[in-house]
Amino acid sequence: SIDIDKRLFEEDIFGSIVHTKMLIKQKIIKKKVGVKIINGLKKIRVEIRRNKFVFNKKYEDIHLNIEKRLFEIIGENAGYLHIARSRNDQVITDFRLWIKKASNEIIQNLHNLIKSFLKKSETNIHTIMPGFTHLKNAQPISFAHYLLAYVEMFKRDKKRFFSNINYIDECPLGAGALAGTSYKIDRNFTSKKLGFKKPTDNSIDSVADRDFVLDFLSSASICAMHISRFAEELIIWNSDIFKLVKINDKMLTGSSMMPQKKNPDPAELIRGRAGRNFGFLQAMLTTMKGLPLSYYKDMQEDKTLVFNSYDTLLESIIITNELVKSLKANKNRMLNLSNEGYTTATDFSDYLVQNNNLSFREAYKVSAKLVNYAEKKKKKLNELSFDEVKKVKKNLNKNVMRVFDVTNSVNLKTSYGGTATKNIKKMIFKLKRELK
Ligand code: ARG
Repeated sequence: SIDIDKRLFEEDIFGSIVHTKMLIKQKIIKKKVGVKIINGLKKIRVEIRRNKFVFNKKYEDIHLNIEKRLFEIIGENAGYLHIARSRNDQVITDFRLWIKKASNEIIQNLHNLIKSFLKKSETNIHTIMPGFTHLKNAQPISFAHYLLAYVEMFKRDKKRFFSNINYIDECPLGAGALAGTSYKIDRNFTSKKLGFKKPTDNSIDSVADRDFVLDFLSSASICAMHISRFAEELIIWNSDIFKLVKINDKMLTGSSMMPQKKNPDPAELIRGRAGRNFGFLQAMLTTMKGLPLSYYKDMQEDKTLVFNSYDTLLESIIITNELVKSLKANKNRMLNLSNEGYTTATDFSDYLVQNNNLSFREAYKVSAKLVNYAEKKKKKLNELSFDEVKKVKKNLNKNVMRVFDVTNSVNLKTSYGGTATKNIKKMIFKLKRELK
C-alpha cells in the first residue's frame, strides 16, 4: 500500500517522535537511544519533504518504509522504536490525525464557498424569480433567498465535519496489536502531545473501529450531494430553454463538432463526481460489515477511499466556488417567468382570507376559479383587469390588484425565514457576522 499510504508520512513521523519521547520519559528506553531515533526520524522527514526518499514496495507500507530507513541511518538502535506499539494502533493514530487535518481543510473551503454565495446574494436581493416545486412555477421568490438556501446546506456540512472531529479526537496509540501492552506506557502523555482530547478506552475497539472513516466519507457524500443539486440547477437554468442564468465563458467548454456550443462541463463534472463520493462510502460500509474484531488487512482499504473522497470533494468545492462567482442572473427573464404559471394565486387566496373574511378553503376555490378564467383568456394573472377579477368575487376593493404583483408577493413573505427582501437583508447581515 506504500503508493497510497505515503501520504501519511508527516503524521507517521510525528506519531513516532511522540511515542519515542514517551518511551524516554517512562524510562523504557535510554535517553541516548531515544534522541538518536528522534534525530533519525527528523532526517527522514526532511528527505521525504524534499522528494529525496526512495519508497520501496518491498517494505509494504509507510510505517515499514520509514523504519527500514531509520535502520540505515542510525543502525541497530532503530530497533527500540517499535517497543509497546503495533502497526495496528500506529496506522489509525496517523489516519485520525490526517482526517482531522483534512476535515479542517474542507471546513475552510466551505467557509470560502459560503462567502461567495453571500456575495452573490447581496447583489440579487431584489432579483425576483419563480420558485419551483415539481419543477413547475410555484411562488415568486428572491434569487438571493434561493442562494441563501445553499448557504444553510454548506453551514450544516461545516458543522458535520466539525462535529466529526469530536469522535476523531481520541488517541488509539498504546492499544498495541489489540490487547494493550505490559510496558508502563503513558497514554495520556502521547494523547496530549499528539493533540488529542484523550486516549481511547478499549484497546480492541481502538484497532477495530473505523467509524471515524465512515463519518468522514458520509459527510463528504452529503456535501457532494448538496453541490450536485446546485450543479444540476445551474445546468437546467443555463439551458437554452430556461435561460435563467448565464455562466461566464471561462466555466464553459466547446464542442468538437458544433461550433456554437458552450457547455457547462464543470457543473456536469461536479454532478457526476458526487457518484464517486457515494461509492467510496458504500465501499467502506461493505468492507466493515462482515469483519469480526479486531484488525484485518481489509481495513487497509480505508486509506484509498478517504484520500479519493477528499480529493474529489475538495476539487468539487473549489469548482463550485468558481461557478458561483461566474454566475449572472438574467434578471428580466427571471421576472417575466415569475409571472408565468399563476404564481400569485396563493397571494390572492391569502388576500381573500385577510380582507374578505373567507376561510382558506373557500378562498382557495375562488382563486382557482380566477386561474381557470385567466387560462381560458390566455392571460397572466397580472394582465387581468379589475372587472375581470370581480367576476369570481364580488365586493372587492381595488387594492386587491396589488396581489398580482410578484415583487409585492415576495415582500409579503415576512414570516421568519421567508423570502421578503427585508428578511433577506437581515439574514445576510447575520450570516456575514457569523462568518467572521
Ligand atoms: N498498512 C496497514 C494498514 O493500513 C498497517 C497495519 C498493518 N497491520 C497488520 N497487522 N498487518 O492497515
